[in-house]
Amino acid sequence: MSRKSIIDDPQHGNKAEAFEAFDDIPTNPNLTRTIGDVINARYGRRDMLKGILGVSATTALFGTSAIIAPKQASAMSGKGRYNFDELTWGNDETHHIAAGYDADVLLRWGDPITADAPDFDPMNQTVEAQLKQFGYNNDYVGYTELEPGRGLLCVNHEYTNEEVMFPGLGRQDKQDFAGMTKELVDIEMAAHGGTIVEIAKDAAGKWSVVRDGKMNRRITPLNTEMTVSGPAAGHERMKTTADPDGMTIIGTLNNCAGGMTPWGTYLMAEENFHGYFWTETRDAEGKPDLSAQPQAASMKRYGVPGMWYAWGKYYDRFDIDKDPNEANRFGWIVEVDPRNPDARPVKHTALGRFRHEGAETTVSKDGHLVIYTGDDNRFDYQYKYVSAGTVGDDAAANSALLSDGTLYAARFDEDGTITWLPLVHGTGPLTAENGFNDQGDVMIDARLAADLLGATPMDRPEDAQPRGDGTAYIMLTNNTRRTAEQVNAANPRAESSFGHIIEIKEANGDHAATTGTWSILVKCGDPSIAEVGAQWNPETSANGWFGSPDNCAFDADGRLWISTDQGSSWGKTMKSDGLYSLETEGALRGHSKLFFRCPVGGELCGPYFSDDSETLFLAVQHPGTDGTKDFKGFERDSTFEDPATRWPDFADGMPPRPSVLVVTKQGGGKIAI
Ligand code: FEO
Ligand code: CA
Ligand code: CA
Repeated sequence: MSRKSIIDDPQHGNKAEAFEAFDDIPTNPNLTRTIGDVINARYGRRDMLKGILGVSATTALFGTSAIIAPKQASAMSGKGRYNFDELTWGNDETHHIAAGYDADVLLRWGDPITADAPDFDPMNQTVEAQLKQFGYNNDYVGYTELEPGRGLLCVNHEYTNEEVMFPGLGRQDKQDFAGMTKELVDIEMAAHGGTIVEIAKDAAGKWSVVRDGKMNRRITPLNTEMTVSGPAAGHERMKTTADPDGMTIIGTLNNCAGGMTPWGTYLMAEENFHGYFWTETRDAEGKPDLSAQPQAASMKRYGVPGMWYAWGKYYDRFDIDKDPNEANRFGWIVEVDPRNPDARPVKHTALGRFRHEGAETTVSKDGHLVIYTGDDNRFDYQYKYVSAGTVGDDAAANSALLSDGTLYAARFDEDGTITWLPLVHGTGPLTAENGFNDQGDVMIDARLAADLLGATPMDRPEDAQPRGDGTAYIMLTNNTRRTAEQVNAANPRAESSFGHIIEIKEANGDHAATTGTWSILVKCGDPSIAEVGAQWNPETSANGWFGSPDNCAFDADGRLWISTDQGSSWGKTMKSDGLYSLETEGALRGHSKLFFRCPVGGELCGPYFSDDSETLFLAVQHPGTDGTKDFKGFERDSTFEDPATRWPDFADGMPPRPSVLVVTKQGGGKIAI
């Protein structure tokens, strides 16, 4: 999620935060679509808001077998497709894994990832050290095998929490960034981006880092040069002072989830890039004033400038008054070849510019590359990309598939149909009359294009995971801003604090199809509270239900796993974020079990299963930070000196450290088999 998740939560948020209108609030003005009106006319708004639609009408309309189930504490171990005894829910200072499994720390923020890297010293951080050490806030984790038992781990570092990262600082956005020196900003920049590091498994099945791995490297917004492909490459709006050709970009920002391609490259999704941009131009209320900006409409729709970080104080390119086009160069999908440390990463503009959560790939029936990617903002859209050509044996030719294809935005209709709307210049409303002079404009302003096409504003599309059979699962994490008037069939709850999961079945099982059907797999939250309107399989226990689905993955047997990020709202469930199995087929469809839970204040990212499903990588992001005022016995904000937990080291003076864990079954074998 983001460091500003707190703003959206009336119970826990600080409404006095500056620039609220420019960061984590909806920017989509196109909220007049009336899917909900049709449902309301048929079933009545009051009934729908009580959750009755979730029981009967949804089942009738979309054929889901799951129903609302206010049932607690059912003993489910041994039943279903996932063979493990579920954990007991809760929240404390450390992580927990189901019995019979190990969850070992593999990589922590600051761990050396090159042979010449210094050991981590939190009291004496330097940019030079951080550039050779594992970055902060690990999010996406991917793995590509070099040989059996040895391969490259690819990890995104989404953002930084200065209050627990640096001694004596506290939250800087609440104090006009007074303490942020250029040296600290540079360390923050070096802690963002990605890590590629070789890991290997020993004879006992334990994984460790290979520090002298030839392909080990850090990718950062400070110093990694990237090139640009696709319709916006070299576009007028991509040209800056430092790059008059619009073809070379320094770095990548806010890399959230991602994906691995079938040919072993690593896709990094640039999510909340807007937060890094800055302006000194303020209106009478002291808020950013865009009235003199020629691209003001676009900037507003994207939330630029977000003013989350002080980088614009020291780097002109992050100041929109000085280099307004720089903001157009972020919000893309970045492809990295982890096997070639000399290769420049590529920003593929054919996949559109928005707050990309992830980029999970599959191959359609006739060989086209298909990528599902969501725009994680309240009332934004689900997208899918289909390549023009087909996947073959040549890696370079395969990468070119990301430069030539069609981006679609999803419309979810009330009859259970999904229609994928192409973002193609010159078709429909995507013309010069509406401000789109070419396909580059359509991709740079993909949100504005999808607005005109009538895509369905969703409850924050996070990760989306396709399975080879033409099925995909979409995580809608929550949307407390949706009003009763804005409810629709695909986003069925007003003020949704807990989110839901949609299942898509593409027509004829073909991921390249432009139509399909959709249904709601689960509506999240506590099923024992009727007002929540949750929808789970009735066998789901008090441990098994969850809130705010975020990332997801399939294991080798095509079974779905969900990780959660409740942000600072976790106090609404009192459950830590964690990893859950989720049945998708048969009588147990919609049944979930808790497999792993995070230490307090952390969200769970990854997950990623090895091809043999004997190893599961998990990423615990920002331990000790989110919502620690609700942590019993602590009840205050964490700082470097006084954190809610010192996970995973629990050593005096050591701050909490975002870390990647490796999960294996004791005695070996496939996970949950
Ligand atoms: Fe970075 Fe949408 O979570
Ligand atoms: Ca996420
Ligand atoms: Ca995923």
